[in-house]
Amino acid sequence: MSSDITASSAWQKLGDHLGTISSTHLRELFADDEARGADLTVTVGDLYIDYSKHRVNRETLRLLTDLARAADVEARRDAMFAGEHINVSEDRAVLHTALRLPADATLEVDGQNVVADVHEVLDRMGTFTDAVRSGAWRGATGERISTVVNIGIGGSDLGPAMVYQALRHYADAGISARFVSNVDPADLVSKLAGLDPATTLFIIASKTFSTLETLTNATRARSWLTDALGDDAVAKHFVAVSTNADKVSAFGIDTANMFGFWDWVGGRYSVGSAIGLSVMTVIGKERFAEFLAGMRAVDEHFLTEPLESNAPVLLGLIGLWYSNFLGAESRAVLPYSNDLARFAAYLQQLTMESNGKSVTAAGTPVTTSTGEIFWGEPGTNGQHAFYQLLHQGTRLIPADFIGFAEPTDDLPTMDGSGSMHDILMSNLFAQTKVLAFGKTAEEIAADGTPADVVPHKVMPGNRPSTTILAQRLTPSVVGQLIALYEHQVFVEGTIWGVDSFDQCGVELGKKQALELEPALTGVEAPESLGDSSTDQLVAWYRRGRGR
Ligand code: F6P
Repeated sequence: MSSDITASSAWQKLGDHLGTISSTHLRELFADDEARGADLTVTVGDLYIDYSKHRVNRETLRLLTDLARAADVEARRDAMFAGEHINVSEDRAVLHTALRLPADATLEVDGQNVVADVHEVLDRMGTFTDAVRSGAWRGATGERISTVVNIGIGGSDLGPAMVYQALRHYADAGISARFVSNVDPADLVSKLAGLDPATTLFIIASKTFSTLETLTNATRARSWLTDALGDDAVAKHFVAVSTNADKVSAFGIDTANMFGFWDWVGGRYSVGSAIGLSVMTVIGKERFAEFLAGMRAVDEHFLTEPLESNAPVLLGLIGLWYSNFLGAESRAVLPYSNDLARFAAYLQQLTMESNGKSVTAAGTPVTTSTGEIFWGEPGTNGQHAFYQLLHQGTRLIPADFIGFAEPTDDLPTMDGSGSMHDILMSNLFAQTKVLAFGKTAEEIAADGTPADVVPHKVMPGNRPSTTILAQRLTPSVVGQLIALYEHQVFVEGTIWGVDSFDQCGVELGKKQALELEPALTGVEAPESLGDSSTDQLVAWYRRGRGR
C-alpha cells in the first residue's frame, strides 16, 4: 500500500470510474438494475439498511471495497480490536469495543485482562444503580433519589443525554435524568429549577476530571446542595465517573463513590463505559446490558463480515465516495423518531472530533479532504425547515434516514382511522423516494402547471440517501446504531490515514479562553491582546459589563 492513499491505483480507478456515475441519474441506475432495491441492502443485528438509493453501481462498490483493502482496513480493524496502540499521537489502545465484551471473554492489553476490569466496574455500577433504584441508597435526609443530574461535557454528556432521551420509555424506577454541560450558567440554573436537593443525585462525569465547564458546574451544584443540606450531604448526593481518582478525591468525592474507566476509552466512544451511569440508573442494569449487547452485535459483524457485506464498511466507503469524489461536504442525519432528537448532535462529536484532521497519523499533510460534516434534525420537522435545500438546492447532501416499524408512542390520526406513526413513516419513505427520483419538467407540465412555473417545480432527484430501519427503538437498537456509526468513522479515518482518536484541535481555544479571562474581568483595561479585532471585542464586552 502506498502511504498516500490518493496515489494508490485503487483511488485512481475510482477517479476513472467517477465519470460513469456523475453522468448517470439514480433513475437510470434503478432502471438498469431492477434488483438493486433488494440487493443493495444489508442486515446487521436488528438493522435493515438500504443503500440502493446511492449514486453507486455494483462496479463502484467493488472499487470502493478494493480501496478499503488497499488501505488495510481489515488489518487495522483487527489491530484496534486486539488493543494495539493505534491512537499514535497519544500512544494508546482504542478499545471501546472491549466495553461490550461478555464477562467470559479475555483480552490482554499491556499485560492486563481488560475484560475483567470492565466487568468489575459494570458490577459495581449495577450494585450502585440497583441501590438507587430500589431506594436502598437514599439522600442525606433519608429520601429516595428521584432525579439524577449528569454534569459533564462532550463525550461525558452527549452519549448519555442522547441515549436517555432515546430510551425514555424504559425509565421504570421513577427516576428521571437531567444533563448539564455548558459553562453558560443558564444551563445549570435551568436544569436545577424545580429540583429538591434532598432527592437529587449528581453524577460528575469527566474522563480527565479537569474540564473547566464540568468542574465549574460541579462546584456550583455542590454549593446548591450544601446550602440546603450541609457539607455532609455530599457523600450521599455526589458520585463521580472518571479515569482520574486523584482529582475526584481532590474535588471532595470519596473514591468509593467513583466509577472508573481507562485511557483506552476515548470520550466520544465512552457511553458504554461508566459514563453511561446516568442511563443505567434510569433504565436498570439489565437494559444497560442489552444496550451493550447491541453494540457488541455490530462489533462482531464489523469484525467478521466480508467487506462486501459489512455494513459499517459499506456506509463508511459510501460516505467517503461522496466526500472525496462527488464533492459533497456534509451528511444529514434524519431520524424519523422524536426520541432520537439528540442523535445528530451526538454524531457530530463522534464523527467530526474523530476525523476532522488535516495531518495523517504520521504527521504529514493529508492529500484529500477529510471529516464529513454531520448535521440533522428529526423528521418530519426538518421537512418544514431545510429539506427545500436538500431537494432543489445546488449542493449534494447525502442523507441517512432512520425509522422504526413500531412506534414508541402512537395516537390516532385526525379522523381516527389511522395511526400518526404511519403518517410519520410514510413521510420517511416519500422523502427518500422524491430525493432519489424527483419529478421531471415533462411530468410537471403534464399536471397542467403553467410553463413559466415549471422550472420552479422541477424536482431534480438524484439525491442520495441511506435508509436504516429497525422494528423498535430498544436499548439494543440504540447500541447498534451507535456502533454502526463508530465503525464508519473508523473505516473513513483509516482510509484517510488520520488518527481518529485524538482531538488536539480543541486544546488551544481552551487555553486561550483561560488566558483571556483576566482581560475581561480585570479592573484595568488590558494591554493589547495581540490583534485589533480581539482588542475591540474585549473592549466592547468590558463596556457592556460596566468595566
Ligand atoms: O474538549 C474536547 C474533550 O476533550 C472531548 O474529547 C471530551 O469528550 C470532552 O472534552 C470532555 O472531557 P472530559 O470527559 O475529560 O471532561
